[in-house]
This record gives sequence, C-alpha cells and structure tokens, in this order.
Amino acid sequence: MDIWSYTQNGYNADDTVTNGNRFLIGNGYMGYRGTMDEWGRGEMAAVNLAGVYDQNGDQWREPVNAPNGLFAKLSVNGEELSLGKAEPSAHSQTVHFRRGTHSRDTEFAAARIQSERIVSAAEPHLLASRLTLTFKTDGRAELTTGIVTDIWDINGPHLFGHSYQTGAVLLAEARTGELDIPVAVAQAAQCGAAHDEKQEVTDTGVYRRICFDAKAGETVAVTLFSAVFTGMDGPEPGKRAAALCEQALSDGYECLVAAHEAAWEKLWQNSAVELSGCDEAARALNASLYHLHSIAPRHAGNLSIPARGLSGQTYKGAIFWDSEVFLFPVFVHTEPELAKALLRYRIETLPGALRKAAEYGFRGAFYPWESQEGGAEGCTNYNVTDVFTHRPVRTYFRDRQIHISGDIAYAFWRYYEITGDLSLMREGGAEVILQCARFYLSRAHRRVDGDDVELLDVIGPDEYHERVNNNAFTNQMAAHCMSRALALTEIFAESDPAFIDALLQKLDYKDDLARLKTVYPLLRPVFAEGEVIEQFDGYFALEDCSLETVRGRLLDEREYWGTNHGVAAHTQIIKQADVVAMTALFPALFSDETVERNWRYYEPRTEHGSSLSACMHALTACCFGRPDLAWEHFIKSASIDLAGGGKHWAGEIYIGGTHPAANGGAWMIAVLGFAGLSVRDGEITASPRLPPQITSLRFPVTVRGKRYRITVTHDGWSREEG
Ligand code: BGC
Repeated sequence: MDIWSYTQNGYNADDTVTNGNRFLIGNGYMGYRGTMDEWGRGEMAAVNLAGVYDQNGDQWREPVNAPNGLFAKLSVNGEELSLGKAEPSAHSQTVHFRRGTHSRDTEFAAARIQSERIVSAAEPHLLASRLTLTFKTDGRAELTTGIVTDIWDINGPHLFGHSYQTGAVLLAEARTGELDIPVAVAQAAQCGAAHDEKQEVTDTGVYRRICFDAKAGETVAVTLFSAVFTGMDGPEPGKRAAALCEQALSDGYECLVAAHEAAWEKLWQNSAVELSGCDEAARALNASLYHLHSIAPRHAGNLSIPARGLSGQTYKGAIFWDSEVFLFPVFVHTEPELAKALLRYRIETLPGALRKAAEYGFRGAFYPWESQEGGAEGCTNYNVTDVFTHRPVRTYFRDRQIHISGDIAYAFWRYYEITGDLSLMREGGAEVILQCARFYLSRAHRRVDGDDVELLDVIGPDEYHERVNNNAFTNQMAAHCMSRALALTEIFAESDPAFIDALLQKLDYKDDLARLKTVYPLLRPVFAEGEVIEQFDGYFALEDCSLETVRGRLLDEREYWGTNHGVAAHTQIIKQADVVAMTALFPALFSDETVERNWRYYEPRTEHGSSLSACMHALTACCFGRPDLAWEHFIKSASIDLAGGGKHWAGEIYIGGTHPAANGGAWMIAVLGFAGLSVRDGEITASPRLPPQITSLRFPVTVRGKRYRITVTHDGWSREEG
C-alpha cells in the first residue's frame, strides 16, 4: 500500500459529493474540490476562498466560491467526454499527500483523459492543471476551457456584475453583493498541438475553444494556469491575476510544480509522523495532516481555519472552538509561527467578541460561536431545520455556548506554556485573556443563600442538552480562564510591570482583578476525586437508556437529536465528549482512576455524533493506560475523510465537508496520546503508550526554535536534534 496517496478506482455517481471532499487540494488561500475537470455547479465543483464572506438576502452568510479557471471539457467528433454523461471503460482518481496533487485517469472509447492539478503551495494565488489527452480514434477534438462563473453556492449567488476580457489571458471579474469585494480570476492555456482557438463570452463565463485534428495513438498535452485575487488582497485584483498568469505561462508547468512540491516537502519535514506497524493507519494519518496543511492559511498571518476547511460553504466557513482545541495543538508543536497566526485571528477579532458580549448585556469578550471575518457572529438563532415541519428550530448555540471564550484563552495559555514566548501576550493575547475572564465574571451568578458561583443556562460541548446549569466543562474552562488572567498579571508584574500596569489601566481592570481572586475558586463544580462527574446539574436524573434505544426512537434518520423534543434531549445520551473532554484538556486535575471512571461511564452514553468526539476519548484512554481502547477512535478520527464519514445532515441542513478537527485529533492521538509527548518549560518528555498495532512512531517537534526528532517504541523513547 502506498501510504502517501489514495486512489479510488471506478466511477460511481453517488460518490460525487464525498469525493469532492476526499480528493480536495488547497493551500490555505483556496481549496479546490476533488471534482473532474469537466464538472460544474451540478457536481459541486468549487474554488472555495478563505476569509471572504457574503450574505445574499436573509440567507446564511457564507464564504465565497471563486469562478473556476481550471474548467476543461473534451469532445471528440462532437461527442462530449464527460464523466457521468459518457460511459468510461476505466476510471481512477488519486490524491497524492506528499506532493499535494490531484490526478484522474479516465478512459472513454474515443480518448483517454489524464490530468494532474495543483493549488500551489508556493504561490497562494495560483492554480494549474496539466491535461494529457490520448486519442483512440482520428477525429476533430474540441477542448472547451476558460473561466466558469456559473458556480456552485449553497446560499448564493454571491458574485454580481461580471465583466470579462478575452485575449492570451482570459479574465473574469465580479463583485460580492454584500460588501462589494472585487473577485478576479485569470486563466492562461498552452496546447501542445497545432490548433485553432476561438474565444467567447456567454452568460456562464468566458471560454476558449481549442480545436485540432487528433490522430489515433497521438497524445496532446494542454496546460492551464489560473490565478485568483480578491479585494481583500489589495487593489487591482484583476491586473494582479492577469500578471500572475502571464508569469506562470513564462515559468512553465514543470517549474511551478517543482516549487509546489518543494514547499510541500518542507511541510512534511516539519510534521510527518512515521507510524510503523499498520500501513492503513499510517496512510490515514498522512491524509489527516495533508488536509490540515492544505487549509492552513500561511499566506495571511491573521486568519484561522474553518470547521469544514476549504471544502465548501458548509458550517458557513466559520471558525469554531475546533481551531483552538483541535487544530492549534498540531501547529504549536510543529510550526509555532502558524499557531501564532491562528491565535492572532482571535486578537484581531476581539472587537467582535466585545460587541457580542455587550449585545447580550455582558462585559468582556464573548467570542462568536461561528466566527466570520472581523469577528462577525455567523451563528443564527435557528441553526437547524426541522425535518417534519420544515420550520427553523430555535437553537441556543449562539447565545449559550459560552465555553468558547475559555477555549480561546486556554490556547493562548498553551502557546505561552509551550513556546515560553510572551510576545503574543503583548501583541494582544493578554487583553484577550483579561476580557474573556471579565466576560465570565459578568456572566456568573452568585446565590443569595450561599457562596457558590454558578454559570446558569449554558450549553457545553454536548449540544444535545441545551440551556443547562453548571456544565462541568464550561465551569472548568471559565475557572481556568479566570485563574490564567490572574497568573498573567503576576508574570508581567515580575517581568514587565509597565506593560501590565498600562494594560490594566487601559481596561479599567482594577476592580475586576480583585473580583477574580475571590470568584474563581468558588465557581462550581468542585470535583470529588474518584467520582463520576455530573455533566451538568440534573444530568444523572435524566432517563438512562442505551444509544440503540434512542436511535430506535428516530422517525427520520436526518432528525435532529437535540433541542426541546429531540430524541436525546431528555436522556443521558450525549452528542460528543464533554466531561471526557474536560479530563483530556486538564489532565493534571484528575487521577488516572478518575479519568477512567468517567470514560467508562460516558463513553457508552456518547453518540459520537460530532467528529470532535473520538479524539478526546482516545487521548483519555491513553492517559489511563489503555491505548487498545483508543485504537478504534484513532482510526475513526484519522480516516474520517478517506472513509467519507461524519454526519452529512443536521435536520435538513447539509453539513458535509472535510473534518479538520478530526484531522488534528488524529495527530493529537498519535503524538500526545500514543507517544505521550509533553512539553513543559522547554523540556520534552514522552511516555509511550503504543497500542499493539503500532511498532514505532517517529516524528518531529519544534520547541523554542529547535527541531527534534522523537522516536517512540514499546521499549521507550529517544530524541535527537535536527
Ligand atoms: C459540534 C461542535 C463543533 C462544530 C464544528 C458541531 O457538530 O457539536 O462542537 O464545533 O460541529 O465542527
């Protein structure tokens, strides 16, 4: 088995949507779905842009898909050779993880179409593809290529006022409806055969029709270059796109691919985990890291990663807690600059979090549950549509999932703990933590008949139980955030009093600081060692039935399990790791026995209806020395996008796409779980807990500017520099 690529043989129309995700390529600036060269909106072909959002009417605000500059459709003697229309005698599709390329190989009666496609890892705005056409009959070949502006959107259209230019470089320009952001796509083509070319503008785009006489046995190569710029990248995106295409034409495909592959190789040098003993797991782990690298916004320095990556517009292209809790750990250990950039997104969107807190009558920073550009809240009050009535259902994720602020503060603190670098705190991280702590102060309640401080009416990670009191995870995150705010002021009081004094003064924080000291130790719950922790007040009193019982009550398989009348809401069945996630994120608070007791209680009651769940269960199983129990969760997390798994529906809403959090989770399980890697005060240690299926793990980590290679076997571990 080749652990660096994945190939699917044969064509099945039912796989079109899943394959768009499975075979995705991208570079953080844009993602190109794994569709065929000749496909369009019907097959969900899309060039999904990072950080550019638009709202059409009162539909959901979502990221913008750019026009497709790599479209190419071949006809021979008037017969269109399109997968899905003409019957292929053979077909395969491959994604190469190491090289970051997509390829297809399709045999039709009249010709064989092979293509290779890249979204350049070396130049964020550039895409290219090379088509190799081998003819089986003599005849007139026509390749229609160009820039298609009739594109797939979920809640679109988003681009208006299209204008086109023909010439050696084709150009399509348009503007988004809501914020009037220009989006420009250019395309250039090279054809290896003597040909005629006609160009035309239609209401679906600007095209070139490349016509030539083909001979049986002859192979013709056609190369396409496309560039994408938007108004977010600076002025004159159209000119820049055209200039980049011209440059690409003169550099040539081989040169672009060489730069692209070299950039990918560098990423792998810094991050590849060599897993020995199980090729299937090794390949799934490579696929996971491949997907993460494909969507990491290295070009920006202040963007984060959407919950469905760049695989389309599902989840509104929004940034969730997934970024800080499931993606950040990979990067902080392998590419700290990128980890910093992800957190910078939260610094820059702090104004949005302050606005949201104020909107609900609180002080401090309440981060959006689904964050879009500038910290705009993408989450609506009606995030699910009922499958029976087709009516929107009131969900409370937006207003009650308050653990988000603590999750963000947690990642800022981890960044400091692991890197020892306070510069991010100075850049705004300290302000983020202080404002998040302030939010919890203003959100908490104190009973008049006692001292307990409570967080009422919240939603924890388990979204099937809405509006609960004292969710253990949320309370713990809030308490941690408050304690870190205090710790931070102490650290700076020692190292840079002028900085912290000025900040506390700017934020008028003196009284809050005093409150923090008294409040955070009183925040419930107080965990009893060795006990099963109640997920929230009253959880144990809910019906304790099996997952099968609850599943058996569904009247429709797409029915939503949560909210008022959802099948799980009145039972102990939970969507995803909640208490278990808390024990995974705060290992120092719990003995291994407590972690195990809670795992054994909650795991059978967990639907794992979120792709975030498996990772937390695997990490904790490693904690209490049972990597064998972690294995199944590891495989599930690592292979989710290869298997095409994960949920595709929440009620009537399509939520498919790639699963970055599970991808990050796979790395966490391998490195933090099985290898037991831990970095404290610049010191690396490992405590191997390899499952029987793995003979060894070898991986790089970067700590305080130095790269180390860690090798872990069943007998121990070692590290070397470099
Ligand atoms: C999960 C959330 C997660 C979101 C995006 C939801 O289904 O319950 O925890 O943040 O998906 O991945």
